[in-house]
Amino acid sequence: MRLTDRAFVRRLLSWYADAARDLPWRRTADPYRIWVAEIMLQQTRVEAVVPYYERFLERYPNAAALAAAPEQELLQAWAGLGYYRRARLLQRAATKIAGEHDGQFPRDYDAIRALDGVGGYTAAAVASIAFDLPFAVLDGNVMRLLTRLANDRRDIAKGETKRALAGRAQELMDAAAPGERGAFNQALMELGATVCTPKSPQCGACPLARDCRGLAQGAADTLPYKSVRPRIRRVELAVAVVRRGGSLLMRQRPQDAAIMPGFWELPSTCGTGGHEAYFASLGVAVGKKIGEFKHSITDRRFRGSIYEAALHRGRPQGHCWISAERLSRLPVTTISRKALRQDMLAGPTQ
Ligand code: ADE
Repeated sequence: MRLTDRAFVRRLLSWYADAARDLPWRRTADPYRIWVAEIMLQQTRVEAVVPYYERFLERYPNAAALAAAPEQELLQAWAGLGYYRRARLLQRAATKIAGEHDGQFPRDYDAIRALDGVGGYTAAAVASIAFDLPFAVLDGNVMRLLTRLANDRRDIAKGETKRALAGRAQELMDAAAPGERGAFNQALMELGATVCTPKSPQCGACPLARDCRGLAQGAADTLPYKSVRPRIRRVELAVAVVRRGGSLLMRQRPQDAAIMPGFWELPSTCGTGGHEAYFASLGVAVGKKIGEFKHSITDRRFRGSIYEAALHRGRPQGHCWISAERLSRLPVTTISRKALRQDMLAGPTQ
């Protein structure tokens, strides 16, 4: 029988009651302290936060103290945690709490979310842990857990998958009773961080193992699936417009070219600098720059410079003079079409 959401929550909470690490922010009900912990934990591992946390709170025990801290002193107290922008945003939010909220930490989700440096995850964490509000957290840990449990092979790099998983996390949160919401979110985080780890998950210690479809399929440690975004490469491109009467000097791309094989293009070359040498090797003398354009092909971002140019010897090998009339019937690369459009906009050059 499928585990009901309520049974899921109960099993997770009873595991958490035994297995939760004793962390300093779990010994307090003070929303200010819980919030500070969540900001520190945004980009820093639990083990790295622990030694700084208490010291920071001794120095700044409430929002008013934090708001009044001289910036240099604050940055020094934050030193070692990295991502200093967080410290500045924390102070800006503390100033808001001390001013707009009379020093009282805001008690509703939207007001918490509106604090500087607080995103959806942190707002849900603080709202649930400090105020028992039913907002589910979703981060990499929780996505890993949920996709493994359902043997869900959808791509977590996609917004639609994230939205679906956020919906699932919220359904589970809705099965938590009042008084359980903060522990439920922290139990999900804890299971993801300590048992359902990215590599070598400890399925033998998992309270949900017998209902885990990923484990049943032997696929738990291959999930979640996340496509990698190609690294964007920026490419400088120089394009030469060489005219003779009403014709343009052009060449045809090789039939085995990976991109736009057999298409026609203006003489052009990639790479920063050095384009003069390439054009000179064709007998093309580069003149004034007459325009620029941008173009994207999958992972490449081209920035093109268009030069007027003249041929000072015979037609280079592999190049042809193409009349405007013939050009209109030939396939021309997008880059060359963009360059020619710019060239036309630049008007006739003498
Ligand atoms: N990561 C983010 N919030 C956390 C919390 N409250 N406990 C442990 N790890 C966390």
